[in-house]
Amino acid sequence: MTGAGQRPHGVLYHWGSVLSLSERTPLISLGEGDTPLVRSAALERLCGLDELWFKLEMCNPTGSFKDRGMVVAVARALEDGAKAIMCASTGNTSASAAAYAAHSGLQSFVLVPSGRVAAGKMAQAIAFGTRIVEIDGNFDDALTAARALTARHPVALVHSVNPDRIPGQKTAAVEICDALGDAPDMLALPVGNAGNISAYWKGFAECAELGYATLHPRMLGFQAAGAAPIVRGALVPEPQTVATAIRIGNPASWQSALAARDESAGLIEAVTDDQILEAYRLLAEREGLFAEPASAAGVAGLLKLAREGRARGGRAVAVLTGNGLKDPETATAQYHPDVIRAEATVAGVERALGW
Ligand code: F0G
Repeated sequence: MTGAGQRPHGVLYHWGSVLSLSERTPLISLGEGDTPLVRSAALERLCGLDELWFKLEMCNPTGSFKDRGMVVAVARALEDGAKAIMCASTGNTSASAAAYAAHSGLQSFVLVPSGRVAAGKMAQAIAFGTRIVEIDGNFDDALTAARALTARHPVALVHSVNPDRIPGQKTAAVEICDALGDAPDMLALPVGNAGNISAYWKGFAECAELGYATLHPRMLGFQAAGAAPIVRGALVPEPQTVATAIRIGNPASWQSALAARDESAGLIEAVTDDQILEAYRLLAEREGLFAEPASAAGVAGLLKLAREGRARGGRAVAVLTGNGLKDPETATAQYHPDVIRAEATVAGVERALGW
């Protein structure tokens, strides 16, 4: 039952038709999906594009795109009678899993790389009451452990290797086609475990098949230079980057990301931490959009292509995958704010401001 005048919301309600749900799938929701698509104010020109739009996936309930796939995975786990769920995560998947578990009365376990998860994401996991296990290793080690543990114990794995996560995430592509009236020429996004690039490509391909779009966008994926296994064509045993969300050396969806790149005549390239942080600051200062560092990798990539004379105009969408509030340490380390103290009087504030 929904309240008077309220329509049901969420990915399962809106996109049940493209998710092949069963009649028994519980239609849970935290209000995920249906995120804004906003036109760029300044970076469009800097990126050498005719149009640049931002898909604000940071507006999902736990502040990242992960909610789209997680709601489907948790609904399926409930349908299958699961009592507990588990994932490995660089922070956002764990925040999302913990939230949907709390909402659904499931127990949840998250495996995170020790000391490498941004403070806001840890705060979310703690608040949602999940059991947090800090792995003495990196994300790739945590994922290996999660796969083995869920094979041995009655706990559902809700990582992106779960077959319901990618279909949930592809709904963002359908929303973009719906909002623009067609697919864009290009889609730029960060690549970590490589599930999202695979999901968007699947979504756009289905839009073309269903007649929602006439175009197939070029998929432009960007990895952090210190964590770029797909770009190098080799595992990265000790991945390093300020964009902790994509600090991954052995992506689970490697092969499908390569397929998305090649079938779309796109690219997957690397951007340095300096380029990521420049885009992070430009998004905040010139667009008013506070995205987390990993989210800025897609925009850093577009800026890099423009600087190298490789931008060819057209309409691009950049996916802002996670909220800047999740990583307050990186934000404060970036700036030297000029905060002035003042007496608590009008005259005092005027004096402090030099008015
Ligand atoms: N952006 C953000 C904010 C992320 O949290 C992630 C992945 C990505 C981009 C990359 O997406 O893995 O589908 O290529 N975060 C995962 C996590 C790994 O555990 O939260 P991907």
